[in-house]
Amino acid sequence: MEVFLWTFVAFSVVLNRVTGSHVPENSGVCFPRGFAFGVATASYQIEGAWNISGKGESIWDRYTHAHPERVFDHNNGDVAADSYHQWREDVALLKHLGVSFYRFSISWSRILPSGFSNEVNEDGIKYYAELISALESNNIAPVVTMYHWDLPQPLQDLGGWTNPIMADYFVDYATVLFDRFSSSVKMWITFNEPLSFCHDGYGGDDAPGGRSSGIETYMCGHNVLRAHGKVYKLYQDRKKQNKAPGWIGITLDMPWMEPATTAREDQEAAEIARQFIFGWFAHPIFSKEGDYPEIMRKRIDEKSRVQNFARSRLPHFTANEVRSIKGSFDFLGLNHYTTYLASPAESHSPGKEPTFEDDMGVRITQKENWPKSNSTWLRIVPWGFRRALNWIKTSYNNPPTLVTENGISLAPGTHDPKRINYIDSYLRALHDAILKDKCHVIGYTYWSLIDNFEWMRGFSERFGLYQVDYTSPKRTRTARLSASYFGQVANTLCLPENYVEYTVTN
Ligand code: NOJ
Repeated sequence: MEVFLWTFVAFSVVLNRVTGSHVPENSGVCFPRGFAFGVATASYQIEGAWNISGKGESIWDRYTHAHPERVFDHNNGDVAADSYHQWREDVALLKHLGVSFYRFSISWSRILPSGFSNEVNEDGIKYYAELISALESNNIAPVVTMYHWDLPQPLQDLGGWTNPIMADYFVDYATVLFDRFSSSVKMWITFNEPLSFCHDGYGGDDAPGGRSSGIETYMCGHNVLRAHGKVYKLYQDRKKQNKAPGWIGITLDMPWMEPATTAREDQEAAEIARQFIFGWFAHPIFSKEGDYPEIMRKRIDEKSRVQNFARSRLPHFTANEVRSIKGSFDFLGLNHYTTYLASPAESHSPGKEPTFEDDMGVRITQKENWPKSNSTWLRIVPWGFRRALNWIKTSYNNPPTLVTENGISLAPGTHDPKRINYIDSYLRALHDAILKDKCHVIGYTYWSLIDNFEWMRGFSERFGLYQVDYTSPKRTRTARLSASYFGQVANTLCLPENYVEYTVTN
């Protein structure tokens, strides 16, 4: 308990200057003093300037240029919200909101155009240095994601995350970031959602466009975990030398997996899905045993045998790697948006192509009457958030957790009461998880500050508290109703009373 309190206070020194001056018109639902509210973005989704001032090509530049037809609206991130030029405006919005931290990502190819650290692009360094210093002068803590999916293309040409050497190149990149920015940046996130970029990038539709689910997917995950362990160690060694306080973690995404019925098979299926979808990355880092979840090892080993592979498609860590990855966190970054129902899937025949889905063997659905967003995968299920947080607490000994993303996409427009409903209902679930269930959550990040390039969905899905006008030269930002709601929460740490009609409808 003492440790719990200590970390809460320590994190809040970095993340939160707000002392919790509660306003009278609140609902009585208030977060603890020191709890931090922030917003997030990512480089490729907002910056634009894809080939300006020395930036190299990333896999998303290459992929969207080569395959515009694969992106829903045939758009790309060449200009996006133009934050490379409009960042002062972004900082003004952050200030206006009153958030205590801003989570953004650094584009590897803006800093190291070829991916390698032999050539550093000083213009890229300057861009982030100015942004960070403007945040500092406004008392907004920078929370920096080192990798939010935009791998330098030259590294992809070497196999990208399927090549084990990528772990060393990631260490080189991290060394440059720590050298240049760690006097100001105290919260680092190595990777954003490895499940997404390994599963969708190497086995699905995202960049680099690999379609080798069940093989490259696991190679990617393996090397990302190795890279994470190495960079965690690098940061700890540096911390020992200069005693600078700072924290480093990883952001994992966890939708809640609810059994479709109370039947034992459905409960088992839900647990298998949690282990494949979250435990794949969380177990090696956050469990006391380390390494991949047993059920993943067992299922993939067995499937590989039946499919006549000479060895398991899920690679093995060495004993040293298990040790160095286990415990490699100061906090867990958690992205949570929605909930699914799980039941056993019909099994594939052995002759079929191996896939992650077949290995998992779980059928995933959603209830038709759960309220919708503008994204097919995202329905509003706030109680699932509380369950996910409790599952993490029980499975991994209640790690300090920063919610690094939660949000909803809606149609364009600035009148967005449904977004307020979403945030408010998820924050109530979070409040219960913290105050009633004692889940160790230190802060909440809304995704996203502004509308941005939603990957394969282009600009068609809008998550921003601020709307971006993609037809205007300056990509004009306009506050939505939800911006003033969220600003009030961030400033008071309390949910406002009767801000909007809270009933969530379809
Ligand atoms: C997760 C990703 O980190 C982010 O890039 C994406 O835009 C949001 N979820 C919404 O899908």
